[in-house]
Amino acid sequence: MRITRRAFMGSAAAGLVARPGWADGFAELRAAPAAVQIAPQEYAPTPVWAYGGQVPGAAIRVRQGDRVQRRLVNGLDQPTTVHWHGLRIANAMDGVPGMTQDAVPPGGTFDYDFVAPDAGTYWYHPHNRTWEQLARGLAGPLIVEEAEAPEVDGEHVLVFDDWRLEPDATLSESFGNMHDLSHGGRIGNWVTVNGVGEWAGTAQRGDRLRLRLINAATARIFSLGLEGFDAWVVALDGQPLEVPQRVEQVGLGPAQRVDLIADVTGTDEAMIISYEADGGYAVAAFAVSGDGAARDAAPVALPPNPVPALGSLDNAPVAELRMEGGAMGRMRGAMLGGEQVPMRELVGAGKAWALNGMADMPEEPLIEAALGETVRVRMINDTAWPHAMHLHGHHFRQLRADGPGPLRDTILMQRGETVEVAFVADNPGDWLFHCHMVEHSAAGMMTWMRVV
Ligand code: C2O
Ligand code: CU
Repeated sequence: MRITRRAFMGSAAAGLVARPGWADGFAELRAAPAAVQIAPQEYAPTPVWAYGGQVPGAAIRVRQGDRVQRRLVNGLDQPTTVHWHGLRIANAMDGVPGMTQDAVPPGGTFDYDFVAPDAGTYWYHPHNRTWEQLARGLAGPLIVEEAEAPEVDGEHVLVFDDWRLEPDATLSESFGNMHDLSHGGRIGNWVTVNGVGEWAGTAQRGDRLRLRLINAATARIFSLGLEGFDAWVVALDGQPLEVPQRVEQVGLGPAQRVDLIADVTGTDEAMIISYEADGGYAVAAFAVSGDGAARDAAPVALPPNPVPALGSLDNAPVAELRMEGGAMGRMRGAMLGGEQVPMRELVGAGKAWALNGMADMPEEPLIEAALGETVRVRMINDTAWPHAMHLHGHHFRQLRADGPGPLRDTILMQRGETVEVAFVADNPGDWLFHCHMVEHSAAGMMTWMRVV
């Protein structure tokens, strides 16, 4: 039996308050099993893995330029690390096992210590067996405040996630199965916002809210509608847009973030709707009171972060990245362990995809860039699936017909699409570049770049 959302709709889910906390020295960030009420109250709490016993983990909130110090304590029975997604920090703090650090064994600790260079909405999650550890609940927001934040009446961090639940609301143990790996990843049957099925808040009519949306799901692409709001996107993946963009719908690929300034215009309610193939339902709802009027003025842009401007694109080297494989793909085989192997053997080894014909991490980087160099990557999605390509340690811009697009750290590519991005390689070290549908990266969609 499959749990449908409807089966869970009987009781209204409880509201949830934000849990801000100011960083203070090496605060402990403990990853451990916990039981959390992600399903409605008539179900028992779901056994998950969580940071600090909460799903999502407590928001780490600092000011731009602040030092962040967290001691990861591994209370799991398998090794783990923490990756600070989207933060342009020192390579040694990037949390990639076998590349920037050793995985932290059960019972072990690791001290993460870095300065947050950019204001914006970021998040943290494990980078070991991510297809299991993220799917079991290990994720939390990391908010870096601007020195001069826009003036708003309220702010909410909304972490979108999905879960694959059994009828008793325990997690399905089907992690990393070949069907998920070779198709669209582990798509859950229960969507949550901040760990509850229908997040509930309150607002005054006319309020200007800042909504920080984060997609912490392993593979789900959210398509969100905004009802009862006049909303503008002010930042993508933490980085401000030069001009706020008025929106009624928001796409949120795996790992992506969208910052909205949303004026409450609804009479009784203002909602965020999640659209799925068979319709839409509210995943977050504000009960609206009062009869204030919305501001006349559109929001102004957030102050830009110190990301270097792209250099000459004409002189920039172009790396090509061909994405192949997956169900309904044409791939017949790929390199694995230095040998060309047929598809059937790849599948036996848990691989289903290849980047430039390689189904495991190449020994050589896709790009070796000189520090400060502007580089281009042309990505060709020769598969029947969308992919959310994420570069560590940098933000890039898509090169569009009308010029470079906004800065992002994760770009959603449609099936068959070719996308070119460019970035300034200004952060020394070895950096992963992978699909953030984390089942895909485990099954072959992972490469890396070197900045020297
Ligand atoms: Cu969100 Cu390689 O990470
Ligand atoms: Cu993918």
